[in-house]
Amino acid sequence: MINGNAKMDDDIVTQERNYFLQVLKTFDNYKKQSLLRIEYKEKCLSALPSQHQTWLEKYKNDLDNIKSCIDKNADYIPIVVQHAKNIFENLYTSDNSGSHQKSSVGTLSEGLDKVQSVFKQLMRDWSSLGAKEREECYSPVINEIELQFPEDKVDRRDIEILVPGAGLGRLAFEIAKRKFNCQGNEFNMFMLIVSFHVLNHCKKIDEFEVFPWIHQYCNNLSVETQMLSVRFPDIITSLDKSSQFSMTAGDFLEVYTEPDVFDCVATCFFIDCASNIVEFLETIYTILKPNGVWINLGPLLYHYSYMKNEKSIEPSFEVLCEVIKKVGFVMEKCQTGLKTRYCQNPQAMLQYEYDSVFFVCRKPMLNGNHFMGDLQNEIADAFNGDKKWD
Ligand SMILES: C[S@@+](CC[C@H](N)C(=O)[O-])C[C@H]1O[C@@H](n2cnc3c(N)ncnc32)[C@H](O)[C@@H]1O
Repeated sequence: MINGNAKMDDDIVTQERNYFLQVLKTFDNYKKQSLLRIEYKEKCLSALPSQHQTWLEKYKNDLDNIKSCIDKNADYIPIVVQHAKNIFENLYTSDNSGSHQKSSVGTLSEGLDKVQSVFKQLMRDWSSLGAKEREECYSPVINEIELQFPEDKVDRRDIEILVPGAGLGRLAFEIAKRKFNCQGNEFNMFMLIVSFHVLNHCKKIDEFEVFPWIHQYCNNLSVETQMLSVRFPDIITSLDKSSQFSMTAGDFLEVYTEPDVFDCVATCFFIDCASNIVEFLETIYTILKPNGVWINLGPLLYHYSYMKNEKSIEPSFEVLCEVIKKVGFVMEKCQTGLKTRYCQNPQAMLQYEYDSVFFVCRKPMLNGNHFMGDLQNEIADAFNGDKKWD
């Protein structure tokens, strides 16, 4: 039995190590893969009648310019990868099975998209261009946290806040900067690797430059739309020695199982990342202390909705509100129609804007007593009358 478990642990470490090496390899392959896509476009161009090619001379030059931006994006990759080898040192250096040579590891099929998403998230979280998105999405959450835990009434260092689905960590960082004890959680290794670099190794404002939308070939007014660049970080990312800030790696549902730990869970553009959103709600409820508060902002763009072989459910917000109450929460605030964007190129011809929901829910004092939650919800509804939502 003991041997069996030890074998299983070894297998898990080997799998994790292999996955980690695949992520590094995918990062390394970014330039090659991206240039291959452009080569294909050049091939399509060169197959056109020669008259068309002449008329499209500028497009040909544009593709050359795009290549030089990809080169610049690729320059950033060895810097992050180098630091990644330090964070996950155990994974990088151990080789329990001896069967996975670094050179034999492949890339991840969805990997190029993941690298591109990280460049866009760098814009949202750590550039001055992302300030507007952060104002729309993060400020309502931060303002609510400040309202719930006023500095003159509580010692903020005692307030434990969790930000699941932290992306590149800006929201969690901003909360920690306000003296709360804050932990971000993220399961995307690409995000974790880059956030580790930004949070621990960026030393100067605007130290690096990336081209977040260089892979977006549609809806550009000119090639400059595609070549819009951002510099990051827009602020010094080191925190006071007294600050309590950490990031955890892993699936939110697996990492957080201990009940009654957090005073606040803050979710932004996260709850729709579940195939079964009810599991997210239950976990948030469990890990909150009695009287703890859950603050959420975002749309319901259910991530697993159109994925093959995924058992995804997509309840509307109306249904979700009922489930939130059934889980045991009391919904104290709810607003709809918050204009919010996610990693948008402000110059592109296509602009997505979400009418997000923002709500604040409390876990009632009597832990696990859903009846109390129901009662308090009824009282809250009665007081709100017809106008349930602001
Ligand atoms: C849409 S992004 C939002 C990121 C950030 N909160 C923001 O507003 O920019 C959702 C993030 O949640 C992460 N995520 C999704 N499911 C997760 C899970 N089960 N555990 C941890 N992180 C998860 C994704 O990798 C992604 O970085």
